[in-house]
Amino acid sequence: MNVLLIGSGGREHALAWKLAQSAGLSRLYAAPGNPGIARHAICAALDAGDHAAVARFCGEHDIALVVIGPEAPLVDGLADSLRAAGTDVFGPSAAAAQLEGSKGFTKRLCAAANIPTARFVSVNTLGDALIALDGFGLPVVIKADGLAAGKGVTVAATRAEAEAALAAIFAGPGSAVIEAFLAGEEASLFILTDGTTMVPFGSAQDHKRVGEGDTGANTGGMGAYSPAAVLTPALEQQAIATIIAPTLAAMRARGTPFSGVLYAGLMLTADGPQLIEYNARFGDPECQVLMMRLESDLLGLMLATAQARLADVAQPRFGDTAALTVVVAARGYPATPVTGGAIGGIDAAEANGAVVFQAGTGLDGDALVARGGRVLAVTAVGANVRAARDVAYAAVGRIDYADGFCRRDIGWRALEGGGD
Ligand code: AMP
Ligand code: GLY
Repeated sequence: MNVLLIGSGGREHALAWKLAQSAGLSRLYAAPGNPGIARHAICAALDAGDHAAVARFCGEHDIALVVIGPEAPLVDGLADSLRAAGTDVFGPSAAAAQLEGSKGFTKRLCAAANIPTARFVSVNTLGDALIALDGFGLPVVIKADGLAAGKGVTVAATRAEAEAALAAIFAGPGSAVIEAFLAGEEASLFILTDGTTMVPFGSAQDHKRVGEGDTGANTGGMGAYSPAAVLTPALEQQAIATIIAPTLAAMRARGTPFSGVLYAGLMLTADGPQLIEYNARFGDPECQVLMMRLESDLLGLMLATAQARLADVAQPRFGDTAALTVVVAARGYPATPVTGGAIGGIDAAEANGAVVFQAGTGLDGDALVARGGRVLAVTAVGANVRAARDVAYAAVGRIDYADGFCRRDIGWRALEGGGD
């Protein structure tokens, strides 16, 4: 069968790499793709915002399944448009993608369904926000409402910092969420669901800060590893029972069932798992580590999800291994990444078993160059986090990319916690 994959990042390269291993795949197309994805797919210059053009492409290329990688086209309703045109889609409707697109929506759903999450208020003006702030201690968390790629969140240690974050949000159009600070360790849990049936799809921990020791600016993620050992089977069961299952039930009850992969960002507090946020898609770079550990056929699972047949297929199987990915970013990321730098050594890096997933890359003639902030995700599996880390960093050492940098401490928390 022919599949169209929407997106161009490291997440989509990992999906393309795994889909290409499926016996059921005839042709994989990617829009727009990148040079790494082009090793597994035919890249097409399609605008995901032009739903009619994507639907036309599906008709012309006999596409049986569209896999939507990033959040923006989901929130924009691409899945709805394609389903209306008769194509199976892996990814939620716009209504269901609100779980990621609107923090206010998710917070209200949690309140109504009694789902453990930080106490919050939604505010629409700076005046209301400053009054509401009186009801919170410090630190306090300030979030812009809407898609913000993890950059719209401030954990404010002082009242002045909180006020500055609110003033910045209300300088433009938009609303904010003020919430209580949750103390604990974070872990990400992935769930495949067709709206009714849900199956766990692995766990991961990422490193959001740009600097070593988890310092500096927030980024989309500088590295990740899977599984998250802190999310023990008992805690995972608790999170599914108290957070995931009631969320999916509430979405069904609203007439907007969630279908696709639900990514729950959890805080493991002394009182049990609490929801920090939902994403309506795979994480990037969490997807890279999940795909390296997944033993099941990804295409079969995605098709069963899209066709609401998850109850009829075997549960996903992951290797009893650990995977770790190191993001190589362009100097200056996340503020002002330097683009255009030449990248070499990928074959050498992959010679020891690592896989170099490409994110912000492009071609300058025949030469591979950096085009975006996060450029590569150098990924490896091993018997444990330490072994995977050693292979990944050995591979990073073989990459020739003068303008790039990476964190040297990916996985430190798992290693210090004895998670190896
Ligand atoms: P979000 O975009 O909601 O995932 O927030 C980004 C990051 O901010 C999270 O990964 C956490 O590290 C932090 N964060 C968000 N909400 C809270 C909270 N209520 N308490 C503590 N940290 C938080
Ligand atoms: N790595 C975090 C995310 O994909 O949202």
